[in-house]
Amino acid sequence: MKILEANNIFAGYGKSEVLHGVSIYIEKEEAITIIGPNGAGKSTLLKAIMGYIPIFKGDIYWRGDNITHLKPHEKVNRGFGYVPQLGNVFPSLTVRENLEMGGFIRSKEIVKERMDKAFQLFPILADRLKQKAGTLSGGQSQMLGMARALMTDPEVLMLDEPSAGLSPMVSEEVFSIITDIHKKMGRAIIIIEQDAYQSLSISDRGYVLVMGQNEFEDRADKILSNEKIREAYLGG
Ligand SMILES: Nc1ncnc2c1ncn2[C@@H]1O[C@H](COP(=O)(O)OP(=O)(O)O)[C@@H](O)[C@H]1O
Ligand SMILES: [Mg+2]
Repeated sequence: MKILEANNIFAGYGKSEVLHGVSIYIEKEEAITIIGPNGAGKSTLLKAIMGYIPIFKGDIYWRGDNITHLKPHEKVNRGFGYVPQLGNVFPSLTVRENLEMGGFIRSKEIVKERMDKAFQLFPILADRLKQKAGTLSGGQSQMLGMARALMTDPEVLMLDEPSAGLSPMVSEEVFSIITDIHKKMGRAIIIIEQDAYQSLSISDRGYVLVMGQNEFEDRADKILSNEKIREAYLGG
């Protein structure tokens, strides 16, 4: 069953159109990866889906409801979680404060319960509750960003380049946690990546986005074994 569908999305910044009719969908408990060259519009697509930038044309359906023009917080209430590539934590707030803000709409009990859940996934955060987020390493900061997004218990989690700037080892750790969120917690996951081997290998399907349009889509294992796509978008 498709839970989220973005159909023929045209969107951009001011009058400049960046997405020229992009379509993606995700099924319940599926993981998908969107790859494509720098500037293709991958981040813009997530911002449009979340409602951070206006959609000029096209529709977004969530469990069959047309939610195209809902505000970001209304989409969060429906079950969307989003971790932007930059600015995914408040650097001057502590780890605890970041997590509390992530669950701001909930009761104290629920915030506590969700925090305990987050510490099971990210034990390192439990040791650093009083530390300012700005002093965390890149990997820890990415984990805090994901933990924060999980505070609202989203059904679909959207991650913008979760491994950007991380060492291969830390990136592997981040992807193993993403796999747990997907497999053990049963959440649908949309991942955007430029260096996409790891991401595609934990995904069910993938899309290639080029110049604001769909270029290609297939099962993730097929994309990984597709010579042409590998050469063009996965560094050979
Ligand atoms: N805040 C912004 N204002 C204006 N143009 C932007 C903004 N963010 C991105 N763009 C433009 O949109 C296009 C797609 O960018 P982006 O979605 O970030 O690509 P990707 O994530 O695939 O690298 C680029 O040409 C970029 O310059
Ligand atoms: Mg981007």
